[in-house]
Amino acid sequence: MKDNMAEQQDPLGDSKSIITNQTGIHEKLNEVVAKHLSHPFKKPYQPHTQQAFQEMDTLVQAFLQANSAGEIILDACCGVGQSSRILAQQNPQALVIGVDKSAHRINRNVEGFSQENGYHAQNYHLVRADLNDFYRLVKAANWPVTKHYILYPNPWPKSKHLQRRWHGSAVFPQMTGIGDTLILRSNWRLYLEEFQQAAKQIALHGELSQVNVAGEQALTPFEAKYQASGQVCWQLTLYK
Ligand SMILES: C[S@@+](CC[C@H](N)C(=O)[O-])C[C@H]1O[C@@H](n2cnc3c(N)ncnc32)[C@H](O)[C@@H]1O
Repeated sequence: MKDNMAEQQDPLGDSKSIITNQTGIHEKLNEVVAKHLSHPFKKPYQPHTQQAFQEMDTLVQAFLQANSAGEIILDACCGVGQSSRILAQQNPQALVIGVDKSAHRINRNVEGFSQENGYHAQNYHLVRADLNDFYRLVKAANWPVTKHYILYPNPWPKSKHLQRRWHGSAVFPQMTGIGDTLILRSNWRLYLEEFQQAAKQIALHGELSQVNVAGEQALTPFEAKYQASGQVCWQLTLYK
């Protein structure tokens, strides 16, 4: 099988399945995770993410002061923020923070989320930041995150790119320390199987299930695209 094939998509949403040169869980996965668990990630923070975090932290602290039973929902890799908007509407008691490194995506308008469409939620904020830094800042600030979503992260399906997947990244120890529940979705089941195996090293357990689509609004544009092309989407839910 070719080594250089990533996910292929056309602009109309005829999304092709993941093509990978891996036949199963990456042979180096446990070793890479163990390395990151035993070596603190010390890379200096980028100023733009530090500033973005400060802005969000101010909002979070004010929210928590005004709502003693308030909860924070983190929507990591939120893209255009469709999921952040949906989660905000579904969880009026919560403050939803959507984070993505792409300013282009964060600032894009999302159709269907106006007052005319019955959308009223204001309890969300989208911020441009690099999660490799943002995660460490959230963990250090001890935000009381109840649910931590990572919906359709970039798959990096080539075997040699294991360390670009979140479970192979240096920030894995901090990212998995955020949230009472972690919810990941992907159209590449193996990505989630790897994450699940990596999470066992930090005693995080949960289940892998098919995303039930019948009659439900897609949480994200990528989910909608995969569903429109007949692909199965998977969810990994991990509990503390
Ligand atoms: C495949 S898209 C999915 C977007 C959205 N969740 C959806 O399902 O429509 C992955 C997103 O992750 C973001 N991303 C990747 N690495 C990131 C990082 N280090 N920090 C913040 N965002 C990142 C990308 O900018 C992109 O918007």
